[in-house]
Amino acid sequence: MRVLRGEVSEFQRWLQKSERFAVLTGAGVSAESGIPTFRGPGGLWRQYSAVELATPQAWSENPGLVWEFYNYRRVLMGEKRPNPAHLALAKIEKEFQKLGKAFTLITQNIDDLHLEAGSQNLIRLHGSLWEVRCVRCAKVSPNREVPITPAFAGTGGVEGNGPSKAFREADLPHCSECGGLLRPHVVWFGEMLDPEVLASAQKAALEAELFLVVGTSAVVYPAAGLVELAAQGGAKIAVVNLDVPVSHRFLDFVFEGAAGEILPSLLQFPDS
Ligand code: OAD
Repeated sequence: MRVLRGEVSEFQRWLQKSERFAVLTGAGVSAESGIPTFRGPGGLWRQYSAVELATPQAWSENPGLVWEFYNYRRVLMGEKRPNPAHLALAKIEKEFQKLGKAFTLITQNIDDLHLEAGSQNLIRLHGSLWEVRCVRCAKVSPNREVPITPAFAGTGGVEGNGPSKAFREADLPHCSECGGLLRPHVVWFGEMLDPEVLASAQKAALEAELFLVVGTSAVVYPAAGLVELAAQGGAKIAVVNLDVPVSHRFLDFVFEGAAGEILPSLLQFPDS
């Protein structure tokens, strides 16, 4: 770890002093579980970037291709397990609970590895890969099917230059209640976040005394705005990232390195 700003011992004193601690995570927290980040190497699926496929336009043009992409992500993520970074965040939450102090984990990830690690007060800004929503009746349900329907078995590999298969309407998943088409319950580019979910994240950021940002390029709004909000609310701001952006505006602590290596020792009270 390279300490670019502040000191570990000082961070840990703040951790102990803070009555309200909030953490924002991004794809970097799951990188050591083997899940490619969005903007780093391996962030492509075939010739498409996630940014091209995770859109309402892509869905209206070719829902089969979009489902093939999400089916691929289900195959990929279904085998992945929480890493020491997820576990350290779940552990510090328990410490905060024991002391009657507030802890909120806000994630941009849709992989649910924080849940699997045992995090409880979790805000999933961008939804979940493991939930589906009916485009007709809007019902949201858990769904762990891999493949998403039998027609997707064996499809979705990263090789190839285009869709491996043209899917028919009947191949796609449908709502058991109304028969409408099911889509991934995730937020796509160009879509609004659920206003209640966003409001609860903003409240946690604004009220935090310490705000830790882990493994995110923090370029996608409104998630990125939470850091500014926390700073406005008077929080100390800490960053743990593999490569910290040059702009260090309003950062109090900057720890450069892999989250899975840094968090287990960083997230300790000084006297423990
Ligand atoms: P990005 O891929 O943009 O950024 C991941 C960040 O994690 C980069 O700054 C990496 O340097 C860093 N990183 C990589 N490995 C790491 C490690 N082991 N430890 C610590 N840091 C590491 O991902 P996000 O910022 O999460 O949105 O992307 C934000 C949103 O854009 C995503 O939620 C998604 C995406 O497109 C939607 O799908 C709406």
